[in-house]
Amino acid sequence: MKYMLGSFVLLAMLISGSYMAYAGAEAEPCKARVPADQMATAKAEKNAYIGNAAAVAEGKAIFEGKGTCFTCHGLGGHGDGDAGKALDPTPRNFGNAKFHDCKTDGEMLYVIRNGSPGTAMIPAVSTGILTEDEAKKVQAYERTFKGK
Ligand code: HEC
Repeated sequence: MKYMLGSFVLLAMLISGSYMAYAGAEAEPCKARVPADQMATAKAEKNAYIGNAAAVAEGKAIFEGKGTCFTCHGLGGHGDGDAGKALDPTPRNFGNAKFHDCKTDGEMLYVIRNGSPGTAMIPAVSTGILTEDEAKKVQAYERTFKGK
């Protein structure tokens, strides 16, 4: 009996240990996702839709609709959508002010266009899910999650 109890404890430890390893963590938000040779171009790019209420409203509809962004990033933008929970790294938490302070609009747009290698982030523009214009509107919407 004593022996059995010991193996149960060991089993429980193994299960919880592998679960911890399976549920990923958010990768460092300030690490560059844009290749070095394209970084200057990305940093120079501005998004004219930032702060434009009509474009932000369209971006919200894209985030919650055809862009499927909410499935991973969550409706509140905290990276806790159902499809994102088991991912490693986990989807970006757009409420994280640090992320907004260190990433330019162009760097975010690069990821929305091309994805983030080695992660589940979708290359939304290059795969035809979103147009260039839609990517800019959804990026403007993502900026509104800052600090929330
Ligand atoms: C299948 C899940 C999934 C979907 C759907 C998804 N994302 Fe992501 N996204 C991720 C993951 C995972 C990361 C974290 C990538 C990393 O750490 O490099 C991420 C990161 C990002 C980043 C931050 C990149 C950086 O510099 O750290 C942006 C911006 C982004 N996503 C925008 C979007 C937009 C816009 C959509 C909808 C068009 C979307 N995502 C849909 C999983 C997803």
